[in-house]
Amino acid sequence: MKKEISHKREGFSSSIGVIAAVLGSAVGLGNIWKFPYVTGANGGAAFILVYLVCVALVGLPVMLSEHLIGRRTKANAVGAFQVLQPRRPWFLVGGAGVLSAFLIMAFYTTVAGWVYAYIFKAAGGALVSAKPEDTTNVFNSLVSGVGEPLFWQILVLLVIGTIIMAGVTKGIERVTKLLMPLLFILLLIIDIRSLTLPGAGAGLAFLFKPDFSKITVSVVLAALGLAFFKLSVGMGAMITYGSYVDKNENLPHMAIKVALADTLVSLMAGIAIFPAVFALGFTPDKGPQLLFIIIPAVFNSMPFGRVFMVLFFMLTAVAATGAMLSLLEVIIAYLTEQYRWTRRKATLLTILAIGLLGSTATLSNSIFAKVTVFGKTFFDFFDFTTSNILLPVGGIFIALFVGWQWGYANVKREMSNEGKLSNDGLVRLFMFLVKFIVPIAITLVLLVGLNVIHF
Ligand code: PHE
Repeated sequence: MKKEISHKREGFSSSIGVIAAVLGSAVGLGNIWKFPYVTGANGGAAFILVYLVCVALVGLPVMLSEHLIGRRTKANAVGAFQVLQPRRPWFLVGGAGVLSAFLIMAFYTTVAGWVYAYIFKAAGGALVSAKPEDTTNVFNSLVSGVGEPLFWQILVLLVIGTIIMAGVTKGIERVTKLLMPLLFILLLIIDIRSLTLPGAGAGLAFLFKPDFSKITVSVVLAALGLAFFKLSVGMGAMITYGSYVDKNENLPHMAIKVALADTLVSLMAGIAIFPAVFALGFTPDKGPQLLFIIIPAVFNSMPFGRVFMVLFFMLTAVAATGAMLSLLEVIIAYLTEQYRWTRRKATLLTILAIGLLGSTATLSNSIFAKVTVFGKTFFDFFDFTTSNILLPVGGIFIALFVGWQWGYANVKREMSNEGKLSNDGLVRLFMFLVKFIVPIAITLVLLVGLNVIHF
């Protein structure tokens, strides 16, 4: 039995491979699509500052908590809690994580589908105008369709299903390791183009000159939610990936590196988009469509824009695919380990379920445009409840578990690699954060942000 489990868990091979995989989970549509539009909708620089505080004080400690739990137990999100606390209901935290994975996948595959579609639209010449009105039309006709966006969503599901079924790490690890730097370089090129457009300064001011009057509690809630979504924490993805990490890896260093690199990618995406938004005469609060109308217009105003645009959407697709693999892996690890399903059966049934649920998100701009859950379309409902409720609540419980239930001695042992690293100061700081700061901060933001308590 033991042998079977260790055989199944290939594990990541090298330090660089681990970083690539964990960063591959973190970097995704969150950076390139979500970060810019949420920043745009919430007032710019001041929001970014709040976001950075959320990443450092809340997101990072939760990420490290998950890595510690995962590596210690070598188990899926639910199994991990059962290994550490067999007789207590902590496994429900993992269960909520598996549910979150489904709900995130439901709308994530919709957007990933748009990105896949844009590769072909860019290459095929459907997106040649530098006029934002034209790129807006292209986007609207895609998302308000029925067959077309569903086709792309299904294709996305088939692609990730195939990769997951073939066994994860080798393929995707190698691919992301190569393509991540390329994404970085391309972002740099678009940054330069965007910054040199006449009138770009207003965009930079929007991004870097905070106007603190823009900060309200709902802005803080949005920043907190984005931090969780961005770092892939609060739902067990990092427990699952942590379970593949080698015992000699320096976990706190790894989490810090991943958070920094991920934030850099988000900021670069912001610099690619906002100067162009203002230069092209747009307002920044366009919502989820921001990326899909601005980026094509920017590319079409530069030489060889079409080639760059195709590459850009390909790399965005790769980033999204890497993130989706980690979301899917949460569910697959759970089903194969807890119920002993084969990887094949688990994958097929899971992508079928995600496809059914996700089609409601995809059709939120057409057939289901008028159907609302708590006043939101299916798409917005999945997005809002996961980022702004399920992941932060998951984060509270993960922090409480590590801080109060698992406790100092265990944390110290795992974080110092059984005493091999001398990082006692870091352990203490971490314990303080997970025991007090993380749970109290999230609880307050949630209660006020969701209007449960008022000032
Ligand atoms: N972090 C991913 C992104 O930014 C999304 C994600 C969330 C992935 C939760 C895994 C788990 O796109």
